[in-house]
Amino acid sequence: MKATAKAPANIAFIKYWGKADESLRTPLNDSLSMNLTGAYTITTVAFDPSYAKDQVELLDGEFSDAETARVIRGLNRIRQKAGSELYARVVTKNTFPKGAGSAASASGFAALTVSGFAALEKSLSEKELTIFARLGSGSACRSIPDGFVVWEKGDSSETSFAWSLYPPTHWDIRDILVIVDSRMKKVSTTEGMETVATSPYLAQRLSAIPGRMQEITQTMRERNFVRFGEIMEEDCLDMHRVMQTQVPPLMYWNTATRTIMDTVVGWRNAGLPVYFTIDAGPNVHLICEGKDEARVLDALKNIRGVEEIILNKSSKGARIISEHLF
Ligand code: PMV
Repeated sequence: MKATAKAPANIAFIKYWGKADESLRTPLNDSLSMNLTGAYTITTVAFDPSYAKDQVELLDGEFSDAETARVIRGLNRIRQKAGSELYARVVTKNTFPKGAGSAASASGFAALTVSGFAALEKSLSEKELTIFARLGSGSACRSIPDGFVVWEKGDSSETSFAWSLYPPTHWDIRDILVIVDSRMKKVSTTEGMETVATSPYLAQRLSAIPGRMQEITQTMRERNFVRFGEIMEEDCLDMHRVMQTQVPPLMYWNTATRTIMDTVVGWRNAGLPVYFTIDAGPNVHLICEGKDEARVLDALKNIRGVEEIILNKSSKGARIISEHLF
């Protein structure tokens, strides 16, 4: 009764910000993302009659009490669905800084969901797995299917799930994740989303998303990188406008973030097709096509304040692997 899963983080091109239902973690809008080869979580779960309580361990780091409680709530949902009352041991590790706005909770809950059900030998459809992952962390549902993934907002728990729009081989898109601050972000996404309705720009954002989803999907079908990048960047700035105009305002960018944003526009003007997107933190994802990655990396050498660079291609979704962490 032990299983290990590897799940990718994902970067959203059309972003999720705001919940329709807080406890079900159903979103206010559809979103679209790419799974990442270079940023992932590996989790081993074992259920055993000899355990007297759940044990949760993060290698190379530490979970807060609140984070541990959230993992245990995830285990409870898995146990309930699989009809088990056994306690579990969970050991997990990330390849990237936790809580730095690079979707550690997405890969974390995707890996927990897939390994947990496998350990209890309960087989679920991919759609069901995305729904269970979503209950742990909304964006985690997008880390389950392969490649480029759509999360439909739906209008209930059963209709809010994720599916693969294109496999990783469809388009050679790169995400150069530029870490400018690896510390824990101040305001979590869960907390930040609670006040989303205080932004006067929320309604405008929500009405723009269906058209944006449709258009970006078309650019992906046609592999039209420039228009794809424009829509993606527009949606990032739109989400941050909502964040920054909430009460209290959420400012996730720092000086290095701003420098990179400005510099990218300059690179583009000089003929280098690269666009940025940013989640709930200061780190910047530079999105380009495979043919331009070396030029972007070269240009990045001149930027100050870069702590680490993580290179990503489009990845498969969460899957079972044979090597356990304990
Ligand atoms: O699922 P959460 O709570 O990690 O929220 C993710 C929200 C953003 O990363 C800011 C946007 C997105 O769609 O990934």
